[in-house]
Amino acid sequence: MKILAIESSCDETAAAVISDSKVLSNVISSQHFHGKYGGVIPELASRAHLDYISKVVHDALEIAKLNIHDIQALAVTIEPGLIGSLIVGSNFAKGLSLRYNLPIVPINHLDGHLYSGNIQDKTVEFPYVALVVSGGHTILFLVESYSSYKILGFTVDDAAGEAFDKIGTMLGLQYPAGPEIDMLAKKGNPKAYDFPRAMLHSGDYNFSFSGLKTSVRYFLNKNFPDGLSENQLPDLCASVQEAIVDVLVKKSIDASVEYNVKHLIIAGGVSSNSLLRERASKLAKLEGIKVVTLDPEYCIDNAAMIGFIAEKKLLENGTEKYNDLTFTANPGSLRAKSIKNKVD
Ligand code: KG4
Ligand code: ZN
Repeated sequence: MKILAIESSCDETAAAVISDSKVLSNVISSQHFHGKYGGVIPELASRAHLDYISKVVHDALEIAKLNIHDIQALAVTIEPGLIGSLIVGSNFAKGLSLRYNLPIVPINHLDGHLYSGNIQDKTVEFPYVALVVSGGHTILFLVESYSSYKILGFTVDDAAGEAFDKIGTMLGLQYPAGPEIDMLAKKGNPKAYDFPRAMLHSGDYNFSFSGLKTSVRYFLNKNFPDGLSENQLPDLCASVQEAIVDVLVKKSIDASVEYNVKHLIIAGGVSSNSLLRERASKLAKLEGIKVVTLDPEYCIDNAAMIGFIAEKKLLENGTEKYNDLTFTANPGSLRAKSIKNKVD
């Protein structure tokens, strides 16, 4: 079966073709222009999706060496995300469905991330623990099968990527600051400054990063009231990164040990972070757990992950169920969803 998948939940316009769990193409157009505004501007994001979606879909088919008549089903992200952005992708998919008489599998964006480890590593065994960590999400899942998972914990305030980005702004870095903090940290001393690790010993799998942000703000006001010079950045970045990564790694490994899994998947934009990858792999190995990290094109928002889980759903439920086009895009409150699904 060949599936054309579309993802437009935030600031990446993406399309991919999946066939028998293989990625035939994975095209991502990132809206880098938001950097100059210090964050994603929803209205501009929707307009950019409108500008790029036809080309991205066209390119995905061309790279896969297929045309639309070779496709048997569509998949599209319908939640959670920016409503205007989600509407562009879901309406584009509905248009294709009506024109070419194709079923559409509506997909939750997080389902894409949490199964994305299975795209690259075919040895991953259920159950596994998945840490989905990005600019919008920080959630720990226990994944039991392609149709069943539980939320073990989530951030009670900011996402880890949001902490990287907001602290980066305080340090004078450009949005999104995660990659630059990662780079500068390599030249710094992670023990230079002792920033808080909130909820490290809370006894659950929840996270909190807004205290860290406030702590860095007070620290900068007190110690660097006249601003920072460039040579002060590496130690600050290394210390901030260390505080974030410490909590992410400890909770992910504790959960993997408690639920006795063999694999820990780390996915989402922040999973590109070099310290997170290295520390998690090293500590998990001591517990006999394999950490699965992803190539950059599967860390950031992409449509291959949407097509991959859509194919599993089609195999399980058949195509008939997906001829219904009455689904609507839903910005969702991730916090509400997390609380509703949380297991005790
Ligand atoms: O998944 P993504 O592309 O978009 C969503 O937020 O859904 O993730 C983007 C986030 C940003 O917060 C960015 O700063 C962060 O991922 N990020 C990183 C790194 N690369 C991207 N954070 C830390 N270290 C990195 N190397
Ligand atoms: Zn995402």
